[in-house]
Amino acid sequence: MTIPYRAGICRASMADLPALDRIEQASFDGDCVSRRSFRHFLTRGQALILVDRAHDGALRGYIALLFRARTSVARVYTIATDAAYRGMGVAAALVTAAEAEALARGCTRLRLEIRPDNQASQALFHACGYRVFGSYADYYEDGADALRLEKPLLT
Ligand SMILES: CC(C)(COP(=O)(O)OP(=O)(O)OC[C@H]1O[C@@H](n2cnc3c(N)ncnc32)[C@H](O)[C@@H]1OP(=O)(O)O)[C@@H](O)C(=O)NCCC(=O)NCCS
Repeated sequence: MTIPYRAGICRASMADLPALDRIEQASFDGDCVSRRSFRHFLTRGQALILVDRAHDGALRGYIALLFRARTSVARVYTIATDAAYRGMGVAAALVTAAEAEALARGCTRLRLEIRPDNQASQALFHACGYRVFGSYADYYEDGADALRLEKPLLT
């Protein structure tokens, strides 16, 4: 099935690995997705990375989704926008594209974890229709808890 993405959004390829790694490292103080994990996600069927490119080809942002067999719940594993392109709707467009991909794969819910002190990400996902439904204690490397958010994709 071909998903009609917003211009600039497409599936990531191995050529995107250096930019994915650079933006991820610059965007998170801890709990970064490793280059090795990105490489793994780019080659396995249960993961999908979408990227948003500027006209000059620069990678503006990405979202990584994980799918599991025998469950209709997909998971946002990481999302980040290059600092130079924040506040321009890049992440919101990536979330919309990811939701379409999840639906196309038969998933009816999308979930993710967010740090309670990550105001920007909470605002993004609340604006996109996600709601807190629980938490994990001592989830992150530094011992911080995680908020669990979910959105039903069929409304
Ligand atoms: C969170 C992040 C992905 C947002 O990316 P972005 O491309 O700047 O977000 P968008 O421009 O698409 O914003 C969409 C909406 O999200 C909310 N939002 C995004 N950033 C915000 C901020 N810093 N403060 C408040 N609201 C924010 C707003 O509602 C915004 O809509 P608006 O511009 O119409 O008000 C980006 O700040 C980032 O990469 N942060 C570091 C990595 C990270 O924390 N990832 C999330 C892990 S769970």
